[in-house]
Amino acid sequence: MKLIKSILIVFVIILNTPLTAQETGFSDLLQNIDSREKIELNGMWDIIVDPLENGYYNHRLQVKDDGYFKNKKMESPSDLIEYNFDTSSQLMVPGDWNTQMDKLYYYEGTVWYKKDFNYTIDSNELAFLYFEAVNYESIVYLNGERIGSHVGGYTPFQFEVTDKLKEGNNFVVVKVDNKRKKENVPTVNQDWWNYGGITRSVHLVKTPISHIADYSIQLPKGNTKTIEGWVSVKNGKDGDAVNVSIPELKKNVNAVVQNGIAKFSMKAKPVLWEPKKPKTYEVILKTATDKITDQIGFRTIETKGTKILLNGKDIFLKGISIHEEAPFKTGRVVSKEECKILLEWAKELGCNFIRLAHYPHSETMVREAEKMGFIIWSEIPVYWTIQFENKDTYANAKNQLTEMISRDKNRAAIVLWSMANETPESEARLSFIENLVEQARELDNTRLITAALDTQGYGKDENLIEDPLGKAVDVIGINNYCGWYAGSTESCSKLKWASAYNKPMIMSEVGGGALYGLHGEKNERWTEEYQAEVYRTNIEMMRNIDFLAGLSPWILMDFRSSRRPLKRIQDDFNRKGLISEKGMKKQAFFILRDYYLKENN
Ligand code: GCU
Repeated sequence: MKLIKSILIVFVIILNTPLTAQETGFSDLLQNIDSREKIELNGMWDIIVDPLENGYYNHRLQVKDDGYFKNKKMESPSDLIEYNFDTSSQLMVPGDWNTQMDKLYYYEGTVWYKKDFNYTIDSNELAFLYFEAVNYESIVYLNGERIGSHVGGYTPFQFEVTDKLKEGNNFVVVKVDNKRKKENVPTVNQDWWNYGGITRSVHLVKTPISHIADYSIQLPKGNTKTIEGWVSVKNGKDGDAVNVSIPELKKNVNAVVQNGIAKFSMKAKPVLWEPKKPKTYEVILKTATDKITDQIGFRTIETKGTKILLNGKDIFLKGISIHEEAPFKTGRVVSKEECKILLEWAKELGCNFIRLAHYPHSETMVREAEKMGFIIWSEIPVYWTIQFENKDTYANAKNQLTEMISRDKNRAAIVLWSMANETPESEARLSFIENLVEQARELDNTRLITAALDTQGYGKDENLIEDPLGKAVDVIGINNYCGWYAGSTESCSKLKWASAYNKPMIMSEVGGGALYGLHGEKNERWTEEYQAEVYRTNIEMMRNIDFLAGLSPWILMDFRSSRRPLKRIQDDFNRKGLISEKGMKKQAFFILRDYYLKENN
C-alpha cells in the first residue's frame, strides 16, 4: 500500500511539473511565421560566384576578417577592392542557381548572396532573420558581422538580430555552399539534382519582446476528446497568462507560464481531420503582448497489427512519391502555385497520401497538402550510404530531424516521420537510425515512425522482410523495383511477400521509367507501354500482400538527376514519373488512377 502511495505521489508531481523550453526538445524555432509580422527579403539578390572561396579564405587558407561579407566599397580612387556586389550578377530568391543561369547548371561550390533592406528600429520589438531553407551550408552576415551558420538544405533556421540592426539601410550577406561531402546528410551521391542556393523564402520576422515562440497543440495519442499542448513564451515571466481559444469549438482556456512554458488541456470534441473532410480549426494564442493564429486539424493515428488506423478506423494509403521539382520550369519548387499543380495531379490520380521524398519539403507544400486532405510521409535525407560511424554526421541528421518535427509538429496531415531511405544493413547503421527513432519519439510521441528499406533483395520467388530496422519502426516502407531493376515484368504478379514483423507495410517505391510519347511493345524499355506493364503487374503483386497498408509509387513527375545522362531519353531526368516535367501524363498514370479510383475508394 505504502509503495502504491509513493508511486502515486511521484506520478502527481511529474504531471504537474512544468515543462521547460529545453525539455520540449525544440530550439524555439519561431512556429508558424505566416502569422507573424515580417519584412519579406525575397526577390533579386546580388551574387558573386566564388569557386575558390576567395571571399572567405586568404591564400594561406586562413579565414579572412575582411571577406566579401564586408561588402566593401571603394572610398578613394586608389582603393583596391576586387569585388563589388552592386555591379555583379543577380539571382532570384527563393530559387536554385542551377536553373536560373546556364553557366551554373552543374555548379557546386560557394555563391555569395547580398540583399539590402530598410529597417526602422522599434525598442518594443525583436527581429529574427528567418531562412526557410538554404542548400546546403550557409554562413550568414548582417552589416558585415557574422551572425551564424547552418548545415542542411531542407529545414528552416533563424538568428535573432535585434541588436545588430541599424536604422535605415542594412545589408545581409549569405555564403551558400552546396559542395557534396562524404560526411554530409545526404552524402556525395543522390538521385536528385543538387540544386544550390537560397531555395526557399527569407524573412525578417518581428515579434514583441515577450512573444510566443513555439507551441504544440494536438490530440494525445489515441484520445479524440481532449486537446492538449504547450506554448513556449520567450522573455515572459512565471505566472504570465496564455490564452488558448478555438472559437468554433467555443473553447477558451487560460494557462500559466512557468519556466517559459505554459501547458494546457481542454475537453473537446473536434470534427476529426481526414482526407475526405480535411477539417482544421482556427486556434488563437494570446499573451499580454503577442497573438498568433493558426489553422490546426485534429486526428489520431496508430497501428494495429498490420493495419494503419486513422481516427480509430483502418485506412489504405493510396499514395504517390513527390520530389520538390517544379512542374514545367523545373528546378526547386518556389511558389504555392507550383505546389498546387503537383497536388492537383496527385488528387487526379485518386491519392489520399503523398510521400514527400527524400527531405522535408516547404511548409507551404505541407499546409496546402493538409488543406487538400493528403496524408503525408515526411522524411530526412538519411539517404543511401552516409557515414553512420561519424558522430558529426549523426548530430547533423539529428538536427535536421529536430528542425523538421519542430516546423511541422502541428500539421495533422503528417502522420509518418521517415528516418531514412535505402540504407545498407550494418550495426552502425542500425544504432544510428535507432537513435534517430528515439529522438523522434521524444519530440513527438503522437505520430508513426517509418523508414524506406530496400534490403529484401531480388531474384527470389518470395521476398522476406527481415531487416533488423523493421523492429525499430512502426510502419515498414519497402522500395522494390520488380520489372525494372530486377526480374521481368511478367514475374512481378507472381512475386510473394512475407514479413518477420506483424506491422503495416507501405510499398514506398515501385515503378519504372518511360519517356513521354515514346511508344512500342510492352517489353521495350523506356516506352510508355513498358512502364504501364510494370504498374499492371506490380499492382497484381500488391493485391496479394495481406499486410500492405498503402503505397507511394516512384514517382509523380519526372525530376532532374545527374545520375541520368542517357541522351534523348533521360537528358538528366529520372523518367520514372507518371507525368513528364512538362505536364504530359503517361499511360501508367491511368493504370494507377484506375486502381485507386475503382478498387480502393
Ligand atoms: C531509389 C531511390 C530513389 C531513386 C529511385 C530510382 O529507390 O530511393 O531516390 O530515384 O530508386 O532509382 O529511380
